[in-house]
Amino acid sequence: MIDFIKGRRSCRKFGNIAIPEDKLKSILKAGLLAPSGRSKRPWEFVVTEDYKKLELLSNCRTQGGGFFLKDAAAAIVIAADSEKTDVWTEDCSIAASYIQLEAHSLGIGSCWVQVRNRVHDDSKTAESYIKEVMEIPENYSIECIIGLGYPDEVKDSYTDKDIDWAKVHMEKF
Ligand SMILES: Cc1cc2nc3c(=O)[nH]c(=O)nc-3n(C[C@H](O)[C@H](O)[C@H](O)COP(=O)(O)O)c2cc1C
Repeated sequence: MIDFIKGRRSCRKFGNIAIPEDKLKSILKAGLLAPSGRSKRPWEFVVTEDYKKLELLSNCRTQGGGFFLKDAAAAIVIAADSEKTDVWTEDCSIAASYIQLEAHSLGIGSCWVQVRNRVHDDSKTAESYIKEVMEIPENYSIECIIGLGYPDEVKDSYTDKDIDWAKVHMEKF
């Protein structure tokens, strides 16, 4: 497991290759099986493989942040009914991590695009922009978008040198 985790890196350059349906399904399964507070599973995964929508989503933050989505093979918008639970951000983040790890296990690259608390432009949040593009009902909140595709870049795996043990505090801070 630790070597697998070391090999996962964010991928923002993708080849022009579609993700086979069974692999996309497997990635979604991983998200659907993620743990959630009181097992509420507040998430909704809104998937697109449509290059026009991917292009629109790539503009969700005009100051950047999601530019690479235009070349992704697919994107999963992770939304939630925030009325269902006060830990929807935690639940959605864990689901997103599961999605990224399953993608990695299938040789598919991925990267998170932050949506919550981010703006599209001076007059619109990234969330409301994405809701319009993906026809997500008003009462849902959006955590992030996970862009997916076969990598067109090679990144080094992490090594033991990247592990910051100073972050670990034994018995007291
Ligand atoms: C909460 C969160 C928000 C992120 N937001 C973005 C983002 O908006 N755009 C982006 O390109 N990458 C984003 N990333 C990816 C990080 O930049 C990346 O995980 C980090 O640089 C470490 O690199 P690695 O994933 O290769 O280990 C985000 C990651 C997380 C966990």
